[in-house]
Amino acid sequence: MKIAIIGSGNIGGTLGAKWAAAGHAVVFGVRDAGSAKARAALGAAGERARVDKIAGAIADAEVVVLAVPGAAVAETVAAHGAALDGKLVIDTTNQFGAPVMNGIAAIAGAAPQAAIYRAFNSVGWENMAEPVVGGVQADLLYCGPDGAGRAAVEQLIAAVGLRPVRVGDLQQVALVDNLGALWSALVFGQGLGRRLAFKVLTPSD
Ligand SMILES: NC(=O)c1ccc[n+]([C@@H]2O[C@H](COP(=O)([O-])OP(=O)(O)OC[C@H]3O[C@@H](n4cnc5c(N)ncnc54)[C@H](OP(=O)(O)O)[C@@H]3O)[C@@H](O)[C@H]2O)c1
Repeated sequence: MKIAIIGSGNIGGTLGAKWAAAGHAVVFGVRDAGSAKARAALGAAGERARVDKIAGAIADAEVVVLAVPGAAVAETVAAHGAALDGKLVIDTTNQFGAPVMNGIAAIAGAAPQAAIYRAFNSVGWENMAEPVVGGVQADLLYCGPDGAGRAAVEQLIAAVGLRPVRVGDLQQVALVDNLGALWSALVFGQGLGRRLAFKVLTPSD
């Protein structure tokens, strides 16, 4: 897949390195190609990755992953709505303290024909870098529409090494958001450490 990752920090850099290693074409869309984060992300992702301005990154992408601060989502998607429209867009962003943690409404408003998914928001980046926790493959709960986009999102989650678990369509986004809030409460409130991850168990597991 041709993947544009907007943001090259902890989340963007970690996902980009995993997807490049899995054979995907990764471009980091950034404000400053010379920034320390952009250079580090490019270094970790290797030859299958490149860096570009945000518009240039989105233009050729099939999948666009938002990995900027939650407060920057509205301005970012408003500036690039036409280019995002019709693409598969994954929102990893959190805006803790805001009435809504995710950027779904802003993305849908700017790019009404985009296929939008909420994923990679609910656990720390360390668990994306090292998805086996205590000897067990962690799950990544996500939501978004069924169909072709779902298969692509699940492929990208699996490429990171996590097991995808679909919670439902975007009407379930509050549950996926709250999982991130639960992670934060356990990690920061209860001191359980950032290598905390989630696992869904059923009798077939
Ligand atoms: N860290 C985690 O474990 C984690 C887990 C789940 C979800 N998230 C969410 O994922 C998102 C990214 O987190 P992160 O930890 O990767 O952050 P980060 O390390 O601070 O990286 C943020 C990236 O966004 C860029 N950026 C900042 N402001 C921007 C703007 N106004 N327009 C365009 N790009 C901008 C930064 O570029 P510069 O270097 O130029 O500033 C940087 O590349 C956040 O919404 C966060 O809540 C984080």
